[in-house]
Parts: sequence; structure tokens; C-alpha cells
Amino acid sequence: MTTPIGFFDSGVGGLSVWREGVQWLPAEHTIYYADNAYCPYGAKAPDEIIARSMHIVDFLLKHECKLIVVACNTATAAAIDCLRARYAVPFVGMGPAVKPAAQHSVSGVVGVLATRGTFKGRFYHETLAQFAADVQVIEQPGDGLVELAEAGLTDSDEARALLQQYIQPMLDAGADYLVLGCTHYPFFLPAIARITGDRMTVIDPAPAVAQRIKFLLTQHNLLNTSGDEARHEFFSSGDLKMVRETAKWLMESMSRTEKPGDRDSMS
Ligand code: DGL
Repeated sequence: MTTPIGFFDSGVGGLSVWREGVQWLPAEHTIYYADNAYCPYGAKAPDEIIARSMHIVDFLLKHECKLIVVACNTATAAAIDCLRARYAVPFVGMGPAVKPAAQHSVSGVVGVLATRGTFKGRFYHETLAQFAADVQVIEQPGDGLVELAEAGLTDSDEARALLQQYIQPMLDAGADYLVLGCTHYPFFLPAIARITGDRMTVIDPAPAVAQRIKFLLTQHNLLNTSGDEARHEFFSSGDLKMVRETAKWLMESMSRTEKPGDRDSMS
């Protein structure tokens, strides 16, 4: 089917998921919507996030999206149940990958960095109860990080200081896994790696999400088999420039990174 896959997030964060999706599904057309005018979502009331999510899904459906990726943990936590109840299109949501961290942790201590909204979500609490009952989970809201990522300041002094403040207590408690529960946070990976060294394994759920997109498209017989060159379109409720620049940079970096299948999906 030649219609696009839709992705949305409060800003550029979901591009970390979009990039993985494009790598796994190079034949697919995509549309990415960044809700920059309403970013960040992290501390917003669930009702407001639900209203924004519905507005964006209506937009993506007008563009005939055949599957929609809620490329935002916070929007998934607040809105995915409402979206699935209201629209017939298949949705893929995001949640902190606590399960693989809890399963593989040797120390029995894992850290989770996410927005306040994500920590309040039903999905997160169900995941904890189901898969993390036997480990100590250190929850750390990543206040301020989304704003820095939107400003392109992922390796700034301010970013490094915040990350140190958030991750050091996890290291002190013996955590050996760090779960990135916000799609903006993979942009901080170089700065995070300088703090954790080889003491923590950092989990970004994007590869597992990309696999899920591929599975659903295959299952619903929605894959694009036309042979047309893939088109990628970007929209924003605010400033589109940063979104385009980030997408371009990610596209260029794809050729420098490993290909899907070179690593485990993590879930
Ligand atoms: N990328 C969003 C997430 O995954 C960021 C939320 C925000 O805008 O605060 O949660």
C-alpha cells in the first residue's frame, strides 16, 4: 500500500523513532508531525495531550496514513487508549523498556529516565508490576532535557550537568541498566555515555518499536511494494526548521551506523 506511515511527537524527539522506522522499512513513505507549538508535553494535563493527539491524528488521517506511530512516551501514556477507541487505523505506542532491563540486570537495580507524564501512565505501572517486581527501579524525571534537545543543546554544559545530576544517584545505587523513557533522550547518548562509561547499558526502545511497525504492516498487508522511491514529509505546529534539520542530520548519519538486524531488538 503506497500511503504513508504517520509519526508524531511534541517535537524533534520522535525523529529518533522515525529514523529507526526508515532504516527498517526503506520502501515506506512517511509523514512526521512535530507539535512544537505545544512542546513540552511532559508536565501537561492528560486532557490537553489527548486533545492535541486527536488533532494531530485527524491531520495524519487527512494525509491517508495507514498506520500511526505515537513516537512519544508521554502522549502514549496519556492518549493511546483514547486513540485506539476512536480510530480504526492501527497505532504503535511507546513505553519505557523496563522489561528487558529488569530481565538482564545483574545488579538488580535499574534506572528509568522519563517525563513526569510517562511515570504517571497506566502502561508504565502495569509494566513495572508485570516485569520489574524483583528489581529496584530508580525513577528520575528528566526535567529540562526536552527543552535542551529542542534547542539542539544536547552536549552543552547545562545538559551535561543535568544528566550528571540525574544519572549519578543511579550509579551510586549500583544500577547497571538505564532505560530511556522519552524519545528526546537518545539525542543525549554521547553525553550519557561519558557519564556512565561501561558501568551501565543504555536502552533506547526505538529498534523494538521499528520491528513492531514492520510486524503490523506485514500482518495487515499494508507494506508498500510499489517500488516507488520513499518520500518523507515533515510538518510542525511551530517552527519547522529544526525538525527538518534534525531529520536531515539523522538521514545523513544513517549511512554511518549499523543496519537493522545487526543487534538485538531488546524486547
Ligand atoms: N518525546 C516525548 C516523550 O517521549 C517528550 C515529551 C515532552 O514533550 O515533554 O515523552
